[in-house]
Amino acid sequence: MSPIKVGLLGLGVVGGGTWKVLTQNADEIARRAGRRIEVVAVAVRDVQKARDLLGDSVSISTDGMDVVNNPDIDVVVELVGGETLAKDWIMRAIELGKHVVTANKALLAVHGNEIFAAAHNKGVMVAFEAAVAGGIPIIKAIREGLSANRIQWVAGIINGTTNFILSEMRSRGLSFEAALADAQKLGYAEADPTFDIEGVDAAHKLTLLSALAFGIPVQFSTAHIEGITSLAAEDIRHAERLGYTVKLLGITRHREEGIELRVHPTLVPTDSLLANVQGAMNAVMVHGDAVGSTVYYGAGAGELPTASAVVADLVDVARLMTADPEHRVPYLAFQQDAMADTPILPMAEVRSAYYLRLRVADQPGVLADVARILAQGKISIESMFQEPAQDGEADIIFLTHVAREGDIDQATAQIQQLPFVRSDLIRLRVESL
Ligand code: NDP
Ligand code: HSE
Repeated sequence: MSPIKVGLLGLGVVGGGTWKVLTQNADEIARRAGRRIEVVAVAVRDVQKARDLLGDSVSISTDGMDVVNNPDIDVVVELVGGETLAKDWIMRAIELGKHVVTANKALLAVHGNEIFAAAHNKGVMVAFEAAVAGGIPIIKAIREGLSANRIQWVAGIINGTTNFILSEMRSRGLSFEAALADAQKLGYAEADPTFDIEGVDAAHKLTLLSALAFGIPVQFSTAHIEGITSLAAEDIRHAERLGYTVKLLGITRHREEGIELRVHPTLVPTDSLLANVQGAMNAVMVHGDAVGSTVYYGAGAGELPTASAVVADLVDVARLMTADPEHRVPYLAFQQDAMADTPILPMAEVRSAYYLRLRVADQPGVLADVARILAQGKISIESMFQEPAQDGEADIIFLTHVAREGDIDQATAQIQQLPFVRSDLIRLRVESL
């Protein structure tokens, strides 16, 4: 069979890794795909840097549209990122009837519905395994391996940069800034690292996972997002004392009333699998009604692990490009005409256990007043402890049983009004999964 011809947009961390994997494993990949996969054109900004890596056999342009429009190309692989040029290139590729592979979760989480609809009309594939959890084949697992199940929830560590930062701060005592700089050097961070540390990148990925798990359209704008920038070292320390580790989790849960879609720092039991995921590694737990809980672990970012997912998508495209489009695996796991309109729940309706910390004047009746407000809000306390703070003040720390977030909001507002309260009430969610 003739080789499949690829146009590569971007030759940075992931694009460069994709070139390396396609080159070093070319024979093995051809044995799997049934034909060779050849990069014939590339778009970058710095032509000389690309020429040094690729040699003379590949045409190089600074205009991605040249590559997309090149009639020799069967598959466009978008590894530049962003939502503007990348969208134009992908929509044009689809218009020309070319298959697309992308690692661009930001684009798909926001414009995925439009892109998948256009691809469906044209009968082309849009594959995006690398967009979620780097090298872990989590999309394939949910879309194919778990297709017998009603999936009940998905939860995971899906941003390598923040997990790397939290791990380095904990194990090596690095500052937040030093750990972030290392993550950038290692190629884990997004072009705009605020996407990582503010939880936006994890929310992009969670939006895709939620759509894949529950057969709903992608709806990034409804995701609740909190990052790790306002996480205080003392809360990490108190959490440890209570037997928990703080991780940035993405959680999406199907409930009768609707779907939870949220990213935030979360206390997980220190002996749980997720608590022990270190560095830039990712782990995703998926709970299905038939299979129970399953866990997927591996490198969530970086050159070769992410390239592994991109090339796997290319192999899928090579295998399936001659198949009838109706018989391919649907983009979001469910048939395009069978998507559900289950609502995303507002945060007030989310149910979770909570860690609460409050600085108070250390005087009689304080605990009783706080406990009374929690009890009135139907919030049950699981455990608590007090730690002396500065002159005559103390920190009180509560762990609650599972409660409705709206009730926690109300109780927080009332507690905040108490005369002996000396700080904002800090609240972190706790998940035992
Ligand atoms: P990099 O910044 O390392 O690479 C971007 C590449 O795009 C560079 O080769 C750059 O060219 C090229 N480029 C930028 N702008 C243009 C333009 N206007 N025209 C043509 N080429 C352009 O990014 P990454 O490889 O890290 O990320 C790429 C995508 O993969 C993003 O969507 C990201 O979210 C996603 N991703 C990244 C992961 C990672 O671990 N890094 C993991 C999973 C997904 P030049 O080299 O000349 O500057
Ligand atoms: N910036 C992302 C991360 C890259 O740190 O996980 C992988 O998607």
